[in-house]
Amino acid sequence: MKMRMAVIGCGSRGKDTYARMQKQFPDRLEIVAAVDPDPKKLLEMQEHYQVPAERCYTDPDPFFSGPCLADVACIATLDHLHYEYAMKAMKAGYHLLLEKPISPVKEECQAIQEAAHQYHRHVIVCHVLRYTPFYRKLKELLVSGAAGEVVSIQASEGVGYWHQAHSFVRGNWRNQKETSPMILQKCCHDFDILLWLTGKHCRRVSSFGDLRLFKESNAPKGAPKRCTDGCPQEHTCPYHAPRYYLGQLEQGNHDWPVNVLTSEPTKEKVLEALRTGPYGRCVYYCDNDVVDHQTVNLEMEDGTTIDFTMCGFTKENVRRIRIMGTLGELEGDMEQNRIWVRPFAGEDQEIDVNTLSDDFSGHGGGDVQLMREVLDLILDGKASEGITTVDQSMESHYIAFAAEESRLENGRTMEVQAF
Ligand SMILES: NC(=O)c1ccc[n+]([C@@H]2O[C@H](COP(=O)([O-])OP(=O)(O)OC[C@H]3O[C@@H](n4cnc5c(N)ncnc54)[C@H](O)[C@@H]3O)[C@@H](O)[C@H]2O)c1
Repeated sequence: MKMRMAVIGCGSRGKDTYARMQKQFPDRLEIVAAVDPDPKKLLEMQEHYQVPAERCYTDPDPFFSGPCLADVACIATLDHLHYEYAMKAMKAGYHLLLEKPISPVKEECQAIQEAAHQYHRHVIVCHVLRYTPFYRKLKELLVSGAAGEVVSIQASEGVGYWHQAHSFVRGNWRNQKETSPMILQKCCHDFDILLWLTGKHCRRVSSFGDLRLFKESNAPKGAPKRCTDGCPQEHTCPYHAPRYYLGQLEQGNHDWPVNVLTSEPTKEKVLEALRTGPYGRCVYYCDNDVVDHQTVNLEMEDGTTIDFTMCGFTKENVRRIRIMGTLGELEGDMEQNRIWVRPFAGEDQEIDVNTLSDDFSGHGGGDVQLMREVLDLILDGKASEGITTVDQSMESHYIAFAAEESRLENGRTMEVQAF
């Protein structure tokens, strides 16, 4: 039996990640319909994933007003459209594989949660970290008591200077009016994983952060508005767009992030996109306003403390964590895929997570495992221990909303319950 999935928003996530899984699970997954205003994307859905032409919609209305075509609607549009489509899809009979954030608006998140209960729908928010071998191993260690009772955690997400520039200065998630605060957009994953790892609820948060670098006042002298217009700093600026994107092509990467610029990532097409599109803009002359660094303090209900830092000024896109418990310490580096277990009474141990799985594609193996567990849930009624419910996903969002409000109020402590 196959799970039938309709993809709404056929971009990087909808088409290139979730629809592509049809190749990975040919006996379990079928893509039966697609919605996207871009006819080129729909053509690709037909050619690559055999979606019938008559079930490809540039206009969402006939899709939602017609009969329910699938078990699951995968909602992978940009953030501000999640609410409308999630509500319509649940009403029409679909379970949801819903990209994060649930919505940039708290009340819309709550309405989606309520509708999920009202219509008895699964709403699986794509918190991909939960499904990675790295975090699964950490969870297993914690459950086995390797650290004793968790007392404190230091966690960080280094966004990567190039990823910050690509997504949060030049790209889709640069401006809060069009998308969501970065702490929600990027770090609802981190809050979700911290809640899941500890198995605790969050009582209070406070947060600080701002946009330090990527603004006009920091533009180097003589920098043009576009990197392709002969910038005098092109050899020294780390954000010089042609060097980065053409460099990716030279290294043989034709996928993300290069395929965000153009669906045919040749040198000529990428250069054309840099000359005319958003990704060729000087990072100091963009219409961005989201932060480039933010730190959040969390106090859990039992007094456990967590400090979490998200920062755009790192070389790699890497998450690190240090969990301090009554009986020992766990440290993890997701880039190295290694975990160090340091019991206070006993031998230290180093775990190479690379040996625990043979698939670390897409978010450290999280994308594929997420789909595997969604298939198990929908086809076999088997909910894995790690799969999220919408109620659990909401908690990470409440923390993010509270953190953002705290940041905007100079770090005032927020009671999460009030959100
Ligand atoms: N889980 C994760 O780790 C993760 C990673 C990246 C992005 N995301 C989330 O996934 C979502 C999609 O991001 P993306 O990178 O795929 O973006 P994208 O821009 O590549 O794709 C969005 C798609 O939506 C289509 N679209 C635009 N208007 C539409 C409409 N009215 N109806 C239907 N489709 C429409 C666009 O044509 C495009 O194909 C976002 O919410 C983002 O936050 C999640």
